[in-house]
Amino acid sequence: MRQTTTAPRVDTPPPAAAAPDRPTAADGAGDDIAAIALAGLTATPKCLPPRLFYDAAGSRLFDRITGLAAYYPTRTESRILHMQAAEIATRAGRGTTLVEFGSGASVKTRLVLDALRDPAVYVPIDISADHMMTASTALARDHPGLTVRPVHGDFMQMTTLPLDDAPAGTAGRRLGFFPGSTIGNLLPDEAVAFLRRAACMLGHDGHLLVGVDLEKDPARLIAAYDDPEGVTAAFNLNLLTRLNREAAADFRLDRFAHRAIWRADAGRIEMHLESLADQIVQVAGRGIRFRKGETIHTENSHKYTPAGFARLARRGGWRTDACWTDPERLFSLHYLIQNH
Ligand code: TRP
Repeated sequence: MRQTTTAPRVDTPPPAAAAPDRPTAADGAGDDIAAIALAGLTATPKCLPPRLFYDAAGSRLFDRITGLAAYYPTRTESRILHMQAAEIATRAGRGTTLVEFGSGASVKTRLVLDALRDPAVYVPIDISADHMMTASTALARDHPGLTVRPVHGDFMQMTTLPLDDAPAGTAGRRLGFFPGSTIGNLLPDEAVAFLRRAACMLGHDGHLLVGVDLEKDPARLIAAYDDPEGVTAAFNLNLLTRLNREAAADFRLDRFAHRAIWRADAGRIEMHLESLADQIVQVAGRGIRFRKGETIHTENSHKYTPAGFARLARRGGWRTDACWTDPERLFSLHYLIQNH
């Protein structure tokens, strides 16, 4: 299932955009938080979908995580991007439309945009609209020739990009950008499904740049997801604050604790919220019973070897044209090309 249409070719450069377009709402933008929470909390074992992390407070906490000493992925990936900027630019070509899946604060985006030759359009996709608009406005200000087309929604639920009312001047290919090892937050089969959908969204000559965290000493991994400052704990627990506010819940935050566990068999870090007591919590008019020690599973973060991720990419219809790492081999950046 490959898309054969490309963006319209025009000979004139895009008009300068002083401000980003208003965000286009896509699927997943108008979630029913109470229904989503109840579905997860009445399941066995209990779970909550990670996209609920990113309300305004959660997005701010996540930005703090990316600056923590223990959280090596962000700065390591930025270093690799910086080192390989010229290699990326050569592969991507001119006039690119850069599509970022889960753009957040768009910090790493700048490294890519600064490297690319005459990038035409930037399409940030994010679940957190206000956060994305703040980032888009700043980015548009710093790149006067760039058209910024924010899309508000859950990229996991998208099969096409709402770009059909075509930004002018997209003579180049679409380059997908999926940094932060967010792909590791998907189960391997979900990652394959996402990669297939990304191929559709990016068109037949689209490329994809993916950040992938690497397997390493479990102690180092656990420290990255359970930092001494407690920011990751606050990020995880913020889910409960959000449900108290948006899903008529009455979680007591002192009765739950953040846990980060390495599962060697599955090759992943798991994030949980552990109930510290037997208790009943009201959520949207229902009583949810917790046993002491029972957990809500809130996130997975899979770790790969370079070869292991290349195999996954192949199942998703892509091949690794280049895989770059840092000298310590903590993190990797895969430049993927479609496997026609
Ligand atoms: N993609 C990030 C990762 O897996 C997301 C993340 C970082 C995260 N820290 C977290 C998710 C803490 C939940 C909780 O590294």
